[in-house]
Formats: sequence, C-alpha cells, structure tokens
Amino acid sequence: MNLGDQHDLEEHPGEEASPVPGVPVEEPGGPMERVEFQEEFNFHDGCWTFPRRGRRVCILFMTIGLMAGIGVGIWLLVLLFRTNALLKILQQESIVSCTEKPLTPTESKSVSFRINTRDFLLEVQVKAWPGWLLVCHEGWSPALGTQICEHLGHLRLSYHKGVNLTDIKVSNSQEFAQLLPRLGSHLEEIWQHRNSCALGQVVSLKCSECGVQHLNSRVLGGTSAVPGRWPWQVSMFKGPQYSCGGSLLAPSWVVTAAHCVYRLSHMSRWRLFVGIVNRSDIVLHMGAVVEKIVLHPSFRNHRQRHDYDIALLKLQTPLNFSNTVRAVCLPEMQQDFPQGSKCWVSGWGSTVPHRGYGSDTLQNALVPLISSQLCNSSCMYKGMITPQMLCAGYLDGRTDACQGDSGGPLVCLDRGIWRLVGVVSWGWDCGKRHRPGVYTKVAAFLDWIHHQIGGE
Ligand code: ARG
Repeated sequence: MNLGDQHDLEEHPGEEASPVPGVPVEEPGGPMERVEFQEEFNFHDGCWTFPRRGRRVCILFMTIGLMAGIGVGIWLLVLLFRTNALLKILQQESIVSCTEKPLTPTESKSVSFRINTRDFLLEVQVKAWPGWLLVCHEGWSPALGTQICEHLGHLRLSYHKGVNLTDIKVSNSQEFAQLLPRLGSHLEEIWQHRNSCALGQVVSLKCSECGVQHLNSRVLGGTSAVPGRWPWQVSMFKGPQYSCGGSLLAPSWVVTAAHCVYRLSHMSRWRLFVGIVNRSDIVLHMGAVVEKIVLHPSFRNHRQRHDYDIALLKLQTPLNFSNTVRAVCLPEMQQDFPQGSKCWVSGWGSTVPHRGYGSDTLQNALVPLISSQLCNSSCMYKGMITPQMLCAGYLDGRTDACQGDSGGPLVCLDRGIWRLVGVVSWGWDCGKRHRPGVYTKVAAFLDWIHHQIGGE
C-alpha cells in the first residue's frame, strides 16, 4: 500500500469505474444529471455515493485508506529520524567526499610528563602554567609512578627515588609542582604550582624500557629488514604453519590481532618466535609457548572487517631481552599521531596479493597515517572505519600490508622512541588505490591493556 495507488485512482477515475448498482447509465446531459447532484453526498448501505464519478467507495476502502495514512505517517517519521541520525553521523564521523580536506587534529592534552634522560628527573606540564615543572618528592607514591609510566606508554615503573636539589644542577628560574593530597585519580588535577620544594627533594623516575632499537643507525612494495631493526616483531606459528605477526610489549606479553587467535581450542598449538628475520631459521620446538589468550571481549569475527581486533597473549616463560629481542612502547595517553605521520609496518605476509605463501625474510614498509575522516570517505571505506581502527598507506595504493601480516606492528617514531600505533587488521585486497591498510588503533585500548597486564 502506498501513496502511488491512491494517486492512480484519483487521476484515472473513469477507467476502472463501474456503474452504481441499481442506477441506469444514461447519456450526459440527460435526466440522470439532476439525480447525481441530489445523491452526491448520499450515504446508504454503508457506502458513500459519488454519482458524478460513477463510483462508490465502501467503508472497507476508507478503513484501508485510513490505515494507509497512518502507515505513511509512521514511515515519514522513521525517515525523518533516520535523516537526523544520518546528519549526526555526517557531522561526527564525517563521511566526506574524497576531495574534501581532512580536519587536522586539535591538541587536547591537559597534562604532559617527561623524564629527562640525563638524571631521570620527572617533569610535568599542566595547561594552567607554561613550562616544565620538576616534581617535589613530598606525597610521592610508587602507585603514582606506575600511573605516570603507563601514561607515558610504558608498561611498568622500574625505579623511583627522591633526589636532593643540592645534588643536581637546577637553574634559578626553575619552578616546581607539589602533589596535592590526591582527590581522585585524574593526573591533571593533583598538582600545585610552587617556587620551591619544602623538603628540598624532587622525583627521579625510570619506566620499563621500550621502543628502542639496538641499531644506531620492508611487506608489499617494502624491503627486507635487518636483524634488530624491529626487535619487538613476533612471528606466530600454529603448529608448523606460519600464521600471523605480533608485537612484544613485555618479557611475557605479546599483542596481536584477535582474528588471528579467536579459536581458543588451538591455544596449545601456538609457538611464538622473537628476534628472527628469516622464517626458515626457526626451530619449531624451540618457540615460546602460550599460557593464556586474552581476546578483547567486544571482538566479533567478521569476514570483511574486524572491530575490536586485538588480543593479548601471555607466554609461559618470560623472554630474555637482547639486541634483537625488545619491547615496543605503547602510545602516550591522549597522544594523537597526526595524518601523514611516517610509520612503519613489518611482517612476513604476502608480497604478491592472492598468493598464499608469504615472504621468508621480514619485510618492512613506510606507510603514512591517513585520517579516519578521509579513510571513511565515499571513495574509500565509506563509514566502515570505527573509532577502534585507523588507516595507513597511500591513496594510490602501492605499499601496503597483506595476508599474513595480520597481528603485526605499525610503529611510529616519537621523540626517539618507537610506539605501537596500530595492529595489522584488514583491508580490501592489498595495495589497491583508495584501499589503504586498516589497523587496530592501539590508543583506544590502553586502559584495557594496562588492566589485563597490570592485573597479573
Ligand atoms: N587480514 C589479513 C591477515 O590476516 C591482513 C590484511 C591486511 N590487508 C591490507 N590490505 N592491509 O593477515
């Protein structure tokens, strides 16, 4: 039932009209015309009579008409609601056209920390006061140290102490931050500006090491990596079969894509290798054994695209770190890597799309980040990129991750340390124009990661 049917009936009333029962048909202009006028608004036998059109419309039709009206009304309401919802999506998620310039991210940090590399003094910068403030030791706690290390993208606090101001060189203009008795756990709300520290001590802090390559010193369209370049790169075998990549976060923790490991029944068959470049170099029985797989609870396997595509694997025995085996750092809290950031993806995946076997040598490739707004645009992934994903690659294709690279790292260099910004997740084909690689956005899972690993 739709408006079109009613319209037809009105536009061509004569075509389907049948004579009014009991009323003889006569030529126009005859006596019947008078009778029609008299009966024009007559109601009898449950029907309205419209003699001019030569048709009666029964109550049944009126009821149907009424229902149709209500139906159309509801339909219009739904349409209106949908349009509003669509407008909201267009405003927020911005399904923009390909040619539209993507927005540049705004700086949203309210508090920043840094640890100076010379004497490991902790410095804080709060929006209200410009400049970096040394932190007075009064009120300090190891729990706060862990929280700051996590904020900085490290998994753990490894060392902390109070340092006498008389033992270090501090300029006369140096200002300080004093800890307030803690109100809540918000790191931005616990600082008070001071010109000196009452007990004359400031905080020195070391966080667990990550994101550094030993070297002082390629994937589809990529190049071969040298040993030690990506010391956090994990190679995951299911039985004798190479399966996925991963990244080392700590001696016993690896992060990978959930779609690589979601069949829990296979856990005992996994063997993980770190510190290798050639797949053929591995000795299967020597791989690290997985003790626990933590899938993100919101992950649902989806053939074409995965959301919440992240999992943590706990190793049975912690690995020994060396020049070729090291952890990668996580992004800082609230850290936004801008579009165009030059990041690297690495893996043993296919170097020729649609060929099952990957590369024997670890490949690496530079892939710039693409804003989610542009990646969601009409010519790319059309709104499929969720806040848990990010895109990297080239608009004209070329270099990209591919089958077999899943779970592996997308890392970006930030002030000398490498941070795990993405986990290889999906993409339509590989290296195709307007189809960049899609990665799990690690920054969206920092609390989840710290909760899982810190809870141990
Ligand atoms: N899902 C693939 C895997 O399991 C990764 C695909 C990445 N594709 C891309 N075009 N970047 O290995």
